[in-house]
Amino acid sequence: MRISVIGCGYLGAVHAASMASLGHEVVGIDVDAEKIEALSNGRAPFYEPDLPELLARGLGSGRLRFSTDIADAAGSLVHFVAVGTPQLKTSGGADLSYVDAAFASLMPHVASGDLVVGKSTVPVGTAARLAKLVEPTGARLAWNPEFLREGYAVKDTVTPDRLVYGIADGQTASVDLLNEVYATAVSADTPVVVTDYATAELVKVAANAFLATKISFINAMAEIAEVTGADVTQLADAIGYDARIGRKFLNAGVGFGGGCLPKDIRAFTARAEELGRGESVAFLKEVDAINLRRRQRAVDVVVEELGGSVFRKKVAVLGLAFKPDSDDVRDSPALDVAVQLHGLGAHVVATDPEAIPNSTRLHPQLSFGTLDEALAGADAVVLLTEWKHYRALDPSSVAAQVTHPLLVDGRNALDADAWRAAGWTYRGLGRR
Ligand code: UDX
Repeated sequence: MRISVIGCGYLGAVHAASMASLGHEVVGIDVDAEKIEALSNGRAPFYEPDLPELLARGLGSGRLRFSTDIADAAGSLVHFVAVGTPQLKTSGGADLSYVDAAFASLMPHVASGDLVVGKSTVPVGTAARLAKLVEPTGARLAWNPEFLREGYAVKDTVTPDRLVYGIADGQTASVDLLNEVYATAVSADTPVVVTDYATAELVKVAANAFLATKISFINAMAEIAEVTGADVTQLADAIGYDARIGRKFLNAGVGFGGGCLPKDIRAFTARAEELGRGESVAFLKEVDAINLRRRQRAVDVVVEELGGSVFRKKVAVLGLAFKPDSDDVRDSPALDVAVQLHGLGAHVVATDPEAIPNSTRLHPQLSFGTLDEALAGADAVVLLTEWKHYRALDPSSVAAQVTHPLLVDGRNALDADAWRAAGWTYRGLGRR
Protein backbone atom coordinates (compact mmCIF):
# COMPACT_ATOMS: atom_id res chain seq x y z
CA MET A 1 0.00 0.00 0.00
CA ARG A 2 1.20 3.54 -0.68
CA ILE A 3 1.45 5.44 2.59
CA SER A 4 2.53 8.94 3.56
CA VAL A 5 3.66 9.84 7.07
CA ILE A 6 3.48 13.53 7.95
CA GLY A 7 5.96 14.44 10.70
CA CYS A 8 9.24 12.56 11.07
CA GLY A 9 10.05 12.98 14.76
CA TYR A 10 10.32 10.14 17.28
CA LEU A 11 6.93 8.81 16.28
CA GLY A 12 6.78 9.51 12.54
CA ALA A 13 10.30 8.42 11.58
CA VAL A 14 9.85 5.11 13.36
CA HIS A 15 6.37 4.68 11.90
CA ALA A 16 7.55 5.40 8.34
CA ALA A 17 10.51 3.00 8.57
CA SER A 18 8.38 0.32 10.25
CA MET A 19 5.63 0.57 7.63
CA ALA A 20 8.25 0.14 4.88
CA SER A 21 9.62 -2.91 6.71
CA LEU A 22 6.11 -4.38 6.56
CA GLY A 23 6.19 -4.12 2.76
CA HIS A 24 4.41 -0.81 2.18
CA GLU A 25 5.65 1.95 -0.09
CA VAL A 26 6.22 4.90 2.20
CA VAL A 27 7.07 8.58 1.94
CA GLY A 28 7.97 10.37 5.18
CA ILE A 29 7.41 14.14 5.08
CA ASP A 30 8.65 16.83 7.45
CA VAL A 31 9.17 20.60 7.24
CA ASP A 32 12.62 20.24 8.88
CA ALA A 33 15.06 19.97 5.96
CA GLU A 34 17.95 18.87 8.18
CA LYS A 35 15.93 15.97 9.56
CA ILE A 36 14.84 14.88 6.08
CA GLU A 37 18.40 15.08 4.79
CA ALA A 38 19.61 12.88 7.66
CA LEU A 39 16.80 10.34 7.23
CA SER A 40 17.30 10.26 3.44
CA ASN A 41 20.91 9.33 4.09
CA GLY A 42 19.93 6.58 6.51
CA ARG A 43 20.85 8.55 9.64
CA ALA A 44 18.33 8.57 12.49
CA PRO A 45 18.10 12.11 13.96
CA PHE A 46 17.80 10.57 17.45
CA TYR A 47 18.95 7.42 19.22
CA GLU A 48 16.52 4.55 18.85
CA PRO A 49 17.64 0.91 18.79
CA ASP A 50 16.94 -0.91 15.48
CA LEU A 51 15.92 2.27 13.65
CA PRO A 52 19.21 2.73 11.69
CA GLU A 53 18.99 -0.86 10.38
CA LEU A 54 15.34 -0.38 9.41
CA LEU A 55 16.13 2.89 7.61
CA ALA A 56 18.98 1.26 5.71
CA ARG A 57 16.79 -1.62 4.62
CA GLY A 58 13.85 0.61 3.67
CA LEU A 59 15.96 3.08 1.69
CA GLY A 60 17.90 0.24 0.05
CA SER A 61 14.71 -1.52 -1.05
CA GLY A 62 13.38 1.68 -2.63
CA ARG A 63 10.18 1.36 -0.57
CA LEU A 64 11.09 4.21 1.79
CA ARG A 65 11.84 7.81 0.93
CA PHE A 66 11.72 11.15 2.68
CA SER A 67 10.73 14.59 1.46
CA THR A 68 10.13 18.14 2.65
CA ASP A 69 7.40 18.62 0.03
CA ILE A 70 3.89 17.90 1.29
CA ALA A 71 2.77 17.51 -2.34
CA ASP A 72 4.61 14.16 -2.26
CA ALA A 73 1.77 12.86 -0.09
CA ALA A 74 -0.42 12.85 -3.21
CA GLY A 75 -0.93 9.36 -4.57
CA SER A 76 -0.81 7.67 -1.17
CA LEU A 77 -3.97 5.90 -0.08
CA VAL A 78 -3.33 6.29 3.64
CA HIS A 79 -1.84 9.42 5.22
CA PHE A 80 -0.63 9.20 8.80
CA VAL A 81 -0.30 12.46 10.73
CA ALA A 82 2.35 11.98 13.39
CA VAL A 83 3.44 15.49 14.36
CA GLY A 84 4.16 16.57 17.94
CA THR A 85 1.71 18.07 20.42
CA PRO A 86 4.04 19.64 23.00
CA GLN A 87 2.91 21.46 26.11
CA LEU A 88 1.91 25.08 25.51
CA LYS A 89 4.39 27.57 26.91
CA THR A 90 1.60 29.46 28.64
CA SER A 91 -0.36 26.61 30.26
CA GLY A 92 -0.55 22.86 30.76
CA GLY A 93 -2.67 22.49 27.59
CA ALA A 94 -1.49 20.84 24.37
CA ASP A 95 -0.11 22.95 21.55
CA LEU A 96 -2.09 21.84 18.51
CA SER A 97 -0.46 24.23 16.06
CA TYR A 98 1.63 21.48 14.42
CA VAL A 99 -1.40 19.21 14.02
CA ASP A 100 -3.47 22.04 12.56
CA ALA A 101 -0.66 23.04 10.21
CA ALA A 102 -0.14 19.44 9.08
CA PHE A 103 -3.84 18.96 8.29
CA ALA A 104 -4.08 22.33 6.52
CA SER A 105 -1.08 21.60 4.30
CA LEU A 106 -2.09 17.99 3.63
CA MET A 107 -5.71 18.58 2.62
CA PRO A 108 -5.02 19.92 -0.92
CA HIS A 109 -3.12 16.69 -1.68
CA VAL A 110 -5.54 14.02 -0.49
CA ALA A 111 -7.93 12.41 -2.96
CA SER A 112 -11.44 11.13 -2.58
CA GLY A 113 -11.36 7.67 -1.02
CA ASP A 114 -8.05 8.27 0.83
CA LEU A 115 -7.82 7.65 4.55
CA VAL A 116 -6.22 10.28 6.79
CA VAL A 117 -5.09 8.75 10.09
CA GLY A 118 -4.28 10.83 13.15
CA LYS A 119 -1.58 9.31 15.35
CA SER A 120 -0.62 12.37 17.39
CA THR A 121 -1.73 12.48 21.03
CA VAL A 122 -4.49 15.10 21.08
CA PRO A 123 -7.09 16.46 23.51
CA VAL A 124 -10.38 14.61 23.24
CA GLY A 125 -12.62 16.32 20.70
CA THR A 126 -9.82 17.18 18.26
CA ALA A 127 -10.56 14.37 15.79
CA ALA A 128 -14.22 15.36 15.47
CA ARG A 129 -13.12 18.90 14.65
CA LEU A 130 -10.50 17.74 12.13
CA ALA A 131 -12.97 15.36 10.46
CA LYS A 132 -14.85 18.44 9.23
CA LEU A 133 -11.69 19.59 7.44
CA VAL A 134 -11.20 16.19 5.81
CA GLU A 135 -14.83 15.71 4.74
CA PRO A 136 -14.90 18.12 1.75
CA THR A 137 -12.01 16.24 0.10
CA GLY A 138 -14.01 13.02 -0.06
CA ALA A 139 -11.39 11.34 2.14
CA ARG A 140 -12.15 9.93 5.61
CA LEU A 141 -10.49 10.41 8.99
CA ALA A 142 -9.56 7.72 11.51
CA TRP A 143 -7.78 8.16 14.85
CA ASN A 144 -5.18 5.52 15.60
CA PRO A 145 -3.15 6.39 18.71
CA GLU A 146 0.36 5.01 19.18
CA PHE A 147 1.61 3.41 22.35
CA LEU A 148 5.27 3.13 21.51
CA ARG A 149 7.88 3.36 24.21
CA GLU A 150 11.16 5.04 23.38
CA GLY A 151 13.91 2.45 23.30
CA TYR A 152 11.40 -0.15 22.03
CA ALA A 153 9.73 2.04 19.42
CA VAL A 154 10.38 -0.25 16.45
CA LYS A 155 9.23 -3.37 18.29
CA ASP A 156 6.13 -1.58 19.62
CA THR A 157 5.23 -0.37 16.11
CA VAL A 158 5.83 -3.62 14.23
CA THR A 159 4.38 -5.90 16.93
CA PRO A 160 2.00 -3.70 18.95
CA ASP A 161 0.17 -5.14 21.96
CA ARG A 162 -3.10 -3.68 20.70
CA LEU A 163 -4.47 -1.56 17.88
CA VAL A 164 -7.09 1.11 18.43
CA TYR A 165 -9.08 2.52 15.49
CA GLY A 166 -11.29 5.52 16.17
CA ILE A 167 -13.72 5.97 13.28
CA ALA A 168 -16.87 7.94 12.49
CA ASP A 169 -20.20 6.11 12.53
CA GLY A 170 -20.56 3.64 9.71
CA GLN A 171 -17.12 4.20 8.19
CA THR A 172 -16.22 0.52 8.23
CA ALA A 173 -14.18 0.91 5.04
CA SER A 174 -11.63 2.72 7.24
CA VAL A 175 -11.32 -0.41 9.38
CA ASP A 176 -10.62 -2.54 6.30
CA LEU A 177 -7.89 -0.16 5.16
CA LEU A 178 -6.26 -0.03 8.60
CA ASN A 179 -6.40 -3.82 8.84
CA GLU A 180 -4.57 -3.93 5.52
CA VAL A 181 -1.92 -1.48 6.76
CA TYR A 182 -1.42 -3.57 9.92
CA ALA A 183 -2.01 -6.93 8.21
CA THR A 184 1.04 -8.53 9.86
CA ALA A 185 -0.07 -7.63 13.38
CA VAL A 186 -3.73 -8.39 12.67
CA SER A 187 -2.92 -11.85 11.34
CA ALA A 188 -0.89 -12.46 14.51
CA ASP A 189 -4.12 -12.00 16.51
CA THR A 190 -3.23 -8.60 17.92
CA PRO A 191 -6.36 -7.29 19.69
CA VAL A 192 -8.08 -4.58 17.61
CA VAL A 193 -10.43 -2.16 19.34
CA VAL A 194 -12.71 -0.40 16.85
CA THR A 195 -14.35 2.58 18.48
CA ASP A 196 -15.38 6.23 18.09
CA TYR A 197 -13.01 9.20 17.85
CA ALA A 198 -13.43 10.32 21.47
CA THR A 199 -12.69 6.90 22.93
CA ALA A 200 -9.63 6.44 20.70
CA GLU A 201 -8.29 9.83 21.78
CA LEU A 202 -8.98 9.05 25.43
CA VAL A 203 -7.42 5.57 25.33
CA LYS A 204 -4.03 7.15 24.78
CA VAL A 205 -4.19 9.78 27.51
CA ALA A 206 -5.90 7.40 29.92
CA ALA A 207 -3.14 4.82 29.43
CA ASN A 208 -0.43 7.40 30.06
CA ALA A 209 -2.32 8.88 33.03
CA PHE A 210 -2.58 5.40 34.53
CA LEU A 211 1.12 4.69 34.06
CA ALA A 212 2.08 8.07 35.55
CA THR A 213 -0.26 7.44 38.48
CA LYS A 214 1.28 4.04 39.11
CA ILE A 215 4.78 5.54 39.24
CA SER A 216 3.69 8.41 41.48
CA PHE A 217 1.84 5.98 43.72
CA ILE A 218 5.01 4.06 44.46
CA ASN A 219 6.95 7.31 44.82
CA ALA A 220 4.37 8.50 47.37
CA MET A 221 5.00 5.24 49.23
CA ALA A 222 8.72 6.06 49.04
CA GLU A 223 7.99 9.33 50.83
CA ILE A 224 6.18 7.45 53.58
CA ALA A 225 8.97 4.85 53.71
CA GLU A 226 11.48 7.64 54.24
CA VAL A 227 9.81 8.83 57.43
CA THR A 228 9.07 5.34 58.80
CA GLY A 229 12.25 3.42 58.01
CA ALA A 230 10.46 1.12 55.56
CA ASP A 231 11.93 -0.02 52.24
CA VAL A 232 9.96 0.93 49.13
CA THR A 233 11.61 -1.64 46.86
CA GLN A 234 10.57 -4.52 49.12
CA LEU A 235 7.15 -2.94 49.42
CA ALA A 236 6.87 -2.83 45.59
CA ASP A 237 7.96 -6.46 45.31
CA ALA A 238 5.45 -7.55 47.91
CA ILE A 239 2.44 -5.71 46.47
CA GLY A 240 3.57 -6.55 42.93
CA TYR A 241 3.11 -10.27 43.58
CA ASP A 242 -0.62 -9.54 43.62
CA ALA A 243 -1.46 -10.19 39.97
CA ARG A 244 -4.12 -7.49 40.10
CA ILE A 245 -1.44 -4.93 40.92
CA GLY A 246 1.63 -6.30 39.09
CA ARG A 247 5.26 -5.30 39.64
CA LYS A 248 5.70 -3.33 36.40
CA PHE A 249 5.94 0.49 36.67
CA LEU A 250 6.43 0.27 40.43
CA ASN A 251 10.07 1.33 40.41
CA ALA A 252 10.45 4.21 42.84
CA GLY A 253 13.13 6.80 42.17
CA VAL A 254 13.46 10.23 40.60
CA GLY A 255 10.24 9.64 38.70
CA PHE A 256 8.95 9.95 35.18
CA GLY A 257 9.98 12.34 32.43
CA GLY A 258 10.18 12.33 28.65
CA GLY A 259 8.09 13.69 25.84
CA CYS A 260 4.85 11.92 26.81
CA LEU A 261 3.89 11.23 30.42
CA PRO A 262 4.46 14.72 31.93
CA LYS A 263 2.86 16.70 29.12
CA ASP A 264 0.04 14.21 28.58
CA ILE A 265 -1.21 14.35 32.18
CA ARG A 266 -1.07 18.15 32.11
CA ALA A 267 -2.91 18.35 28.79
CA PHE A 268 -5.52 15.87 30.07
CA THR A 269 -6.08 18.01 33.16
CA ALA A 270 -6.41 21.16 31.04
CA ARG A 271 -8.87 19.48 28.68
CA ALA A 272 -10.96 18.05 31.53
CA GLU A 273 -11.17 21.54 33.05
CA GLU A 274 -12.33 22.94 29.69
CA LEU A 275 -15.02 20.27 29.66
CA GLY A 276 -16.14 21.26 33.16
CA ARG A 277 -14.89 17.95 34.60
CA GLY A 278 -11.68 19.16 36.19
CA GLU A 279 -12.45 17.35 39.45
CA SER A 280 -12.53 13.97 37.67
CA VAL A 281 -8.81 14.11 37.04
CA ALA A 282 -7.77 16.51 39.81
CA PHE A 283 -5.63 13.68 41.21
CA LEU A 284 -3.33 14.05 38.21
CA LYS A 285 -2.11 17.37 39.64
CA GLU A 286 -1.00 15.44 42.71
CA VAL A 287 0.58 12.78 40.49
CA ASP A 288 2.57 15.57 38.81
CA ALA A 289 3.50 17.18 42.15
CA ILE A 290 4.69 13.91 43.72
CA ASN A 291 6.77 13.25 40.62
CA LEU A 292 8.49 16.63 40.74
CA ARG A 293 9.13 16.34 44.50
CA ARG A 294 11.25 13.23 43.93
CA ARG A 295 13.76 15.21 41.90
CA GLN A 296 14.13 17.62 44.80
CA ARG A 297 14.45 14.68 47.19
CA ALA A 298 17.42 13.29 45.22
CA VAL A 299 19.12 16.69 45.44
CA ASP A 300 18.37 16.91 49.17
CA VAL A 301 19.89 13.47 49.84
CA VAL A 302 23.12 14.46 48.08
CA VAL A 303 23.28 17.72 50.05
CA GLU A 304 22.55 15.90 53.32
CA GLU A 305 25.20 13.24 52.73
CA LEU A 306 27.79 15.88 51.83
CA GLY A 307 27.30 17.55 55.21
CA GLY A 308 24.75 20.23 54.30
CA SER A 309 26.39 21.79 51.26
CA VAL A 310 27.53 20.66 47.83
CA PHE A 311 29.41 23.91 47.18
CA ARG A 312 32.62 23.09 45.29
CA LYS A 313 32.07 19.38 45.79
CA LYS A 314 32.58 17.22 42.73
CA VAL A 315 29.44 15.29 41.89
CA ALA A 316 29.47 12.56 39.23
CA VAL A 317 26.05 12.36 37.55
CA LEU A 318 25.50 9.03 35.83
CA GLY A 319 22.73 9.33 33.27
CA LEU A 320 20.99 12.30 31.64
CA ALA A 321 18.36 10.72 29.40
CA PHE A 322 14.84 10.44 30.85
CA LYS A 323 15.26 6.67 30.68
CA PRO A 324 17.81 4.15 29.39
CA ASP A 325 18.16 3.35 25.67
CA SER A 326 17.15 6.85 24.71
CA ASP A 327 18.94 10.14 24.05
CA ASP A 328 15.77 12.07 24.90
CA VAL A 329 16.20 14.65 27.66
CA ARG A 330 12.79 16.29 27.39
CA ASP A 331 11.58 16.84 30.95
CA SER A 332 14.29 14.46 32.12
CA PRO A 333 14.48 14.03 35.92
CA ALA A 334 18.19 13.22 35.55
CA LEU A 335 19.05 16.43 33.73
CA ASP A 336 16.90 18.40 36.16
CA VAL A 337 18.75 17.00 39.18
CA ALA A 338 22.12 17.71 37.52
CA VAL A 339 21.09 21.31 36.85
CA GLN A 340 19.86 21.79 40.43
CA LEU A 341 23.11 20.46 41.91
CA HIS A 342 25.06 22.74 39.59
CA GLY A 343 22.91 25.64 40.77
CA LEU A 344 23.87 24.86 44.36
CA GLY A 345 27.52 25.31 43.49
CA ALA A 346 28.54 21.68 42.98
CA HIS A 347 31.11 20.86 40.32
CA VAL A 348 28.87 18.50 38.37
CA VAL A 349 30.42 16.28 35.72
CA ALA A 350 27.62 14.46 33.98
CA THR A 351 27.88 11.49 31.69
CA ASP A 352 25.50 9.45 29.54
CA PRO A 353 26.07 6.97 26.71
CA GLU A 354 23.80 8.86 24.28
CA ALA A 355 22.27 12.01 25.74
CA ILE A 356 25.25 14.36 26.10
CA PRO A 357 24.67 16.24 22.79
CA ASN A 358 21.00 16.95 23.62
CA SER A 359 21.88 17.90 27.21
CA THR A 360 24.64 20.26 26.05
CA ARG A 361 22.21 22.07 23.78
CA LEU A 362 19.79 22.67 26.67
CA HIS A 363 22.28 23.25 29.49
CA PRO A 364 25.69 24.30 28.17
CA GLN A 365 26.59 25.51 31.69
CA LEU A 366 27.04 21.90 32.86
CA SER A 367 30.28 19.95 32.43
CA PHE A 368 30.00 16.70 30.53
CA GLY A 369 32.51 13.92 30.22
CA THR A 370 33.16 10.21 29.94
CA LEU A 371 32.24 7.90 32.79
CA ASP A 372 35.87 7.87 33.93
CA GLU A 373 36.09 11.66 33.81
CA ALA A 374 32.89 11.96 35.85
CA LEU A 375 34.05 9.48 38.48
CA ALA A 376 37.63 10.73 38.86
CA GLY A 377 37.95 12.28 42.32
CA ALA A 378 34.19 12.55 42.86
CA ASP A 379 32.83 13.40 46.32
CA ALA A 380 29.50 11.80 45.40
CA VAL A 381 28.19 9.58 42.62
CA VAL A 382 24.53 10.00 41.67
CA LEU A 383 22.87 7.40 39.44
CA LEU A 384 19.93 9.00 37.64
CA THR A 385 19.35 6.90 34.49
CA GLU A 386 19.70 3.16 34.89
CA TRP A 387 21.61 2.31 31.70
CA LYS A 388 22.64 -1.37 31.67
CA HIS A 389 26.28 -0.30 31.64
CA TYR A 390 25.88 1.57 34.95
CA ARG A 391 23.96 -1.28 36.55
CA ALA A 392 26.90 -3.56 35.76
CA LEU A 393 29.54 -1.29 37.37
CA ASP A 394 31.88 -3.00 39.78
CA PRO A 395 31.62 -1.23 43.17
CA SER A 396 35.27 -1.95 44.11
CA SER A 397 36.78 -0.59 40.92
CA VAL A 398 34.55 2.51 41.01
CA ALA A 399 35.60 3.03 44.67
CA ALA A 400 39.22 3.27 43.51
CA GLN A 401 38.32 6.17 41.15
CA VAL A 402 36.43 8.46 43.54
CA THR A 403 37.51 10.56 46.53
CA HIS A 404 34.52 9.65 48.71
CA PRO A 405 32.61 6.39 48.23
CA LEU A 406 29.15 7.98 48.46
CA LEU A 407 26.48 6.68 46.10
CA VAL A 408 22.97 8.08 45.71
CA ASP A 409 20.94 5.64 43.64
CA GLY A 410 18.17 7.76 42.15
CA ARG A 411 16.65 4.73 40.40
CA ASN A 412 17.04 2.06 43.09
CA ALA A 413 18.72 0.08 40.34
CA LEU A 414 21.92 -1.08 42.04
CA ASP A 415 22.57 -3.87 44.51
CA ALA A 416 22.74 -1.95 47.81
CA ASP A 417 24.39 -4.81 49.71
CA ALA A 418 27.14 -5.26 47.13
CA TRP A 419 27.96 -1.54 47.12
CA ARG A 420 27.93 -1.34 50.91
CA ALA A 421 30.17 -4.42 51.12
CA ALA A 422 32.67 -2.60 48.89
CA GLY A 423 32.81 0.26 51.40
CA TRP A 424 30.26 2.62 49.89
CA THR A 425 27.71 4.72 51.70
CA TYR A 426 24.66 3.74 49.66
CA ARG A 427 21.49 5.85 49.66
CA GLY A 428 18.45 4.81 47.64
CA LEU A 429 15.21 6.81 47.45
CA GLY A 430 12.58 5.47 49.82
CA ARG A 431 14.96 2.89 51.25
CA ARG A 432 16.64 2.38 54.59
C1 UDX B 1 5.37 6.26 27.51
C2 UDX B 1 4.37 5.10 27.45
O1 UDX B 1 4.92 3.97 28.15
C3 UDX B 1 4.04 4.75 26.02
O2 UDX B 1 3.10 3.72 25.96
C4 UDX B 1 3.52 6.01 25.33
O3 UDX B 1 3.21 5.76 23.99
C5 UDX B 1 4.51 7.14 25.43
O4 UDX B 1 4.84 7.37 26.81
P1 UDX B 1 8.00 6.50 27.21
O5 UDX B 1 7.82 7.96 27.44
O6 UDX B 1 8.89 6.04 26.09
O7 UDX B 1 6.58 5.80 26.94
O8 UDX B 1 8.60 5.88 28.54
P2 UDX B 1 8.20 4.86 29.68
O9 UDX B 1 8.95 3.60 29.49
O10 UDX B 1 6.73 4.76 29.84
O11 UDX B 1 8.83 5.60 30.94
C6 UDX B 1 8.39 6.91 31.30
C7 UDX B 1 9.16 7.43 32.47
O12 UDX B 1 8.78 6.77 33.67
C8 UDX B 1 10.68 7.30 32.39
O13 UDX B 1 11.26 8.51 32.84
C9 UDX B 1 10.99 6.17 33.34
O14 UDX B 1 12.28 6.27 33.88
C10 UDX B 1 9.92 6.37 34.40
N1 UDX B 1 9.57 5.15 35.16
C11 UDX B 1 9.07 4.06 34.51
C12 UDX B 1 9.72 5.12 36.55
O15 UDX B 1 10.17 6.11 37.16
N2 UDX B 1 9.37 3.99 37.23
C13 UDX B 1 8.88 2.89 36.62
O16 UDX B 1 8.58 1.92 37.32
C14 UDX B 1 8.72 2.92 35.22
